[in-house]
Formats: sequence, C-alpha cells, structure tokens
Amino acid sequence: MVCLGNICRSPLAEGVMRKLLEEQGLYWEVASAGTGSWHVGKAPDARSVAVAKRFGYDISKQRAQHFRMSFFETYDRIFVMDQHNYQDIVSLTQDNASRDKVSHFLPDLEDVQDPYYEDRLFEPVFLGIEARCKSLLSELNNL
Ligand code: 4NP
Repeated sequence: MVCLGNICRSPLAEGVMRKLLEEQGLYWEVASAGTGSWHVGKAPDARSVAVAKRFGYDISKQRAQHFRMSFFETYDRIFVMDQHNYQDIVSLTQDNASRDKVSHFLPDLEDVQDPYYEDRLFEPVFLGIEARCKSLLSELNNL
C-alpha cells in the first residue's frame, strides 16, 4: 500500500488489510510505504491513528518507510492511493513484470483523497479505505 508520506492513507490501508487477513486466517504479507521519505520512522499521523482506533483497528505501532526498489521483488501486488503515486512508482520500474504489479487501490483509477491538510477528511477517507480493503481482499482471494 503506497501513498506520498506513508503517515495518513497507506498506513490505514495496511492496518485494515492486516486485520481482515487475520480474521480470514490468510497469511499474506502486507506493508505500506511512501514515495517520499520525509516521515521515515514516524508513527502514522495522530488523526489516522484516532480514526482507525474508533473503528476497531490499531495502527499505532506501524512505522513509515520509504518505497524501495526491492519491493518490486518482495511483493506480488503494489496498490497506490492516487495518480501521483502511480506515476512516481511506475517511473521507478525497469521491466514489465514490475510495472504490471502496480495498480490503483480504488477501482476506475480513482484517487484516495489526501486528508493531510483537512481534518474532516480523515473519517470519509478511512471509510473508503476500509470498504475497498474488504472488496479488494475478496477479489484477490478469488483469483
Ligand atoms: P499521506 O499524506 O500521503 O496519505 O501519508 C501526506 C502526509 C504528509 C504529507 C503529505 C501527504 N506531507 O506533505 O508531509
């Protein structure tokens, strides 16, 4: 799960997906990372931690990391939150196999809005991410 800072959106997607996987007894590895490195090592934004907690997810122990080239090998699928993330990640790819792993998290190439500068966006962003994690997991599990 990839976004810009790895402190607002992608940590939510990571935490929600991990809990859904645990509930379903699936041992898939999930992680998140940012295309930017400003927040490396930091906990998720307090507003993401709070909204996740309100809906039953603990993301407080996750730590931000910068997207690394090795992730193209490590992970089968790479989901990006918006079109900027998509361009940034695809521009790093050196072969079709890597490029083919990258897709938008939301269907129809929609962006997950960046809530960083607007507190009121955290809840709707969380709810959209949670709903999409559920549908994405069922899609991936039925492949
Ligand atoms: P994220 O949100 O990409 O969802 O983690 C942001 C976090 C930090 C910044 C921008 C977006 N920033 O400019 O520091």
